[in-house]
Amino acid sequence: MDTTRIVLAARPHGEPTRDDFRTETVTLPDPQAGEALLQTVFLSLDPYMRGRMNDAKSYAAPVELGQTMVGATVSRVLEAPGGEFAPGDLVLGYGGWQTHSVEPVAGLRKLDPELAPPSTALGVLGMPGLTAYTGLLTIGQPKPGETVVVAAATGPVGATVGQIAKLKGARVVGIAGGPEKVAYLEELGFDAAIDHRAPDFVEQLTAATPDGIDVYFENVGGAVWDAVIPRLNTYARVPVCGQVATYNDTELPDGPDRVGWLMRQILQRSLTVRGFIQTEFADQTPQFLQDMGAWVRDGEVRYREHVVEGLDNAFDAFLGMLSGRNFGKTVVQVSEL
Ligand SMILES: NC(=O)c1ccc[n+]([C@@H]2O[C@H](COP(=O)([O-])OP(=O)(O)OC[C@H]3O[C@@H](n4cnc5c(N)ncnc54)[C@H](OP(=O)(O)O)[C@@H]3O)[C@@H](O)[C@H]2O)c1
Repeated sequence: MDTTRIVLAARPHGEPTRDDFRTETVTLPDPQAGEALLQTVFLSLDPYMRGRMNDAKSYAAPVELGQTMVGATVSRVLEAPGGEFAPGDLVLGYGGWQTHSVEPVAGLRKLDPELAPPSTALGVLGMPGLTAYTGLLTIGQPKPGETVVVAAATGPVGATVGQIAKLKGARVVGIAGGPEKVAYLEELGFDAAIDHRAPDFVEQLTAATPDGIDVYFENVGGAVWDAVIPRLNTYARVPVCGQVATYNDTELPDGPDRVGWLMRQILQRSLTVRGFIQTEFADQTPQFLQDMGAWVRDGEVRYREHVVEGLDNAFDAFLGMLSGRNFGKTVVQVSEL
């Protein structure tokens, strides 16, 4: 079986360009016992992939030059010689940016399309949903009446964070790019929604958080984080989940070194600033699937997907997702469901 795949051709400096990727078609080895031959249906595009393109020490190994770009996938089983899966089964795997893959069956989870649309296994009922659930509830610990702020708030992590915080009785302020996204947050029931590109963003944030901020779920960094710091209350919690505003940066920002100033804020207001990678909370997955499955089924947590047709469009969709041209969880539909 042939696969058409997108490999990392060069390490980007700043924003990735098309030349950093190469598309090629190769023949896959036949699947052996303990493996399955899969056809990709949906490919997830996520911000962490930008980090994997760098040759830098991180929590996960970089993609090597010439290697297929990594990524979670919903795939259809074509062959599984060991009999663990039947042809036609849909599975969650990690096939990467390609049309077909051979993967160890141990890493695959069978999906039930009757329970939820299969693509949700890449979003609200998958890694981004688990990130939101564990980061908010384990680190953020919002209490009824507290103010929770989250940016990238229409994305799969941010939208889920905001809706869980509402379910826990918090007052929720969402930050997103552009009036359409702001309107969507109001539709989702956020108490206030702000456009981070508005010229008076800082004033709007101040007005929307009259009692300060108790939980800031950090998804973006950059100017939003700068605006949030002065609003944080004593004992505020900051789950540091992502810094997408800076993923293409190649240098530190201009200006004076403010690390000492930031440490004083942490000290003087007894802030909890705690980074995390969702894999450390993997043991919460069963509880997450139970809670989130029920919330999604009952319409208490809603989700939105940004579906892009065809592997050829993965590059544009990836860049678009990093800069906010997506509206919801970005997935590439690689073949028919
Ligand atoms: N720690 C973990 O284990 C973990 C796991 C999953 C995700 N994450 C992180 O969580 C964050 C959200 O991920 P996601 O998958 O839900 O992404 P996403 O929201 O689908 O996409 C990223 C969004 O970031 C926003 N953004 C980009 N540049 C920005 C800037 N300069 N200022 C403000 N917002 C900006 C854009 O939304 P707007 O148009 O609204 O600006 C863009 O749509 C990312 O930082 C990601 O790396 C961490």
